[in-house]
Amino acid sequence: MADTEVAVQAANKWKRKRGSLIMALHEIQEVKGYVPWEDAAVLAEGMGVPLARIYEVLTFYNFFKLEAPGKAVVSVCTGTACYLKGNDKIIGEFEKELGIKEGDTDAEGNFHLQSVRCVGCCGLAPVTVINGKTYGRITIADVKGIVDEWKQNVAEMKE
Ligand code: FES
Repeated sequence: MADTEVAVQAANKWKRKRGSLIMALHEIQEVKGYVPWEDAAVLAEGMGVPLARIYEVLTFYNFFKLEAPGKAVVSVCTGTACYLKGNDKIIGEFEKELGIKEGDTDAEGNFHLQSVRCVGCCGLAPVTVINGKTYGRITIADVKGIVDEWKQNVAEMKE
């Protein structure tokens, strides 16, 4: 899934419905855990809404988060297809490997672990997305390797 695909889908779904900007923003946040700036820009274009209006909405409602809650945002899909393929156990394994609970960020601000609703690639269930990179058909045995890969990535990110 392209990085801003969820924003493209939300724009297509909501653009003809009045007063639906908040619903579209909700959809992005439910999938990503926050509303990245590039998604807001895609939504603005797709819905024909000025970016300034989207910014107003995002800052007015403190429910919306504009910043990534960690350098690496680990989003484990708990939509129906992924749930049926055992993603609840995958979350448990990420909790163990990262040493944090679902919904939390580690003390260094490096990792945030969250469950999200369907990210739109159910054929690859069970799915986890980290900073836009999709991992499909993952097993419990894969989790440690994925975490190690991202520990390396996070170490290479600039402050
Ligand atoms: S339910 Fe997980 S990608 Fe659709």
